Amino acid sequence: MERRPRRNRASQAIRDLSQETLVTANDLIYPLFLLEGSHKKTEVKSMPGIFRLSLDLMLQEMEQCLKLGIKGFDVFPVVEDFHKDKLATRSYDRGFFYIQALDTIKKEFPEALIITDVAMDPYSSDGHDGIVKDGKILNDETLDVLGQMALAQAETGIDMIGPSDMMDGRVGHLRNVLDEAGFSHVGIMAYTAKYASAFYGPFRDALDSAPKFGDKKTYQMNPANRKEALIEAELDYIEGADVLMVKPALSYLDVISDLKANYDLPIAAYNVSGEYAMIKAAGLQGWLDADRVRDEVLLSIKRSGADMILTYFAKEFCSQTRA
Ligand code: PBG
Repeated sequence: MERRPRRNRASQAIRDLSQETLVTANDLIYPLFLLEGSHKKTEVKSMPGIFRLSLDLMLQEMEQCLKLGIKGFDVFPVVEDFHKDKLATRSYDRGFFYIQALDTIKKEFPEALIITDVAMDPYSSDGHDGIVKDGKILNDETLDVLGQMALAQAETGIDMIGPSDMMDGRVGHLRNVLDEAGFSHVGIMAYTAKYASAFYGPFRDALDSAPKFGDKKTYQMNPANRKEALIEAELDYIEGADVLMVKPALSYLDVISDLKANYDLPIAAYNVSGEYAMIKAAGLQGWLDADRVRDEVLLSIKRSGADMILTYFAKEFCSQTRA
């Protein structure tokens, strides 16, 4: 035998030296759920270890994460029912707690990369990412709302917006709105290939944002489709996206790999709530070694081509790998 691949697996030293992929804090973005008020902390039932936090506690959490080397945060608002309406008007209300909190967060941690969520669903009484009329989601009318939302967020000094709505043409529209208002420095992390997935369940619990009727299949992608992701990527690229995202991650590694191969922009993958919940649940049952599965999952996402990973595991991963 001339070729013996096992020689490169013989010791920890050679395994480390020949390792192709490494996940570090530099790769991770931590999604956070923001509550209105102060001194509030509630655990998301279906996501053990993940808490909705009011601003005061979130600032403490972010400080700890920054010390662990995490540099990116994606902040999602938990909106009370009485704030919701059909047009998601709170989403661009400068006095609303989310917008005010972004301002404080950015002043407190200018060095952190703060990403915001642009979509109507947390603020919509219909629980959809677009304006609903006669049971249909209106695309172009929704763009106006998204533009106003992005503008209100950009004014706080945040670094990047994350349109997660999947309306057609929104990246270009948001780029124009931001540029015309003097925010050409604000980036766009486009949810490029966002699938109509059952893996978002725990997130919708966290935000109480599940659709009030129907599903999201007329705007989120069909999980059966791979090539369609390239159409979405092409549009987002042309429309000015800075980062292309695939979501969820684990069941879509082929899509991550395709985007990496076809585009020179950084590729993000969203290791979503359901992917976190499955591993945690099995770990708590004693059925899996959850820490090792977590590390393997993050590695696989990176190996498939993701340059950055949004993951609820960010903090525990960094706490354990540094220890
Ligand atoms: C909605 C949005 C969703 C997630 C992020 N933004 C859920 C959905 O589309 O219903 C899911 C994230 C996760 O599951 O972790 N704009």
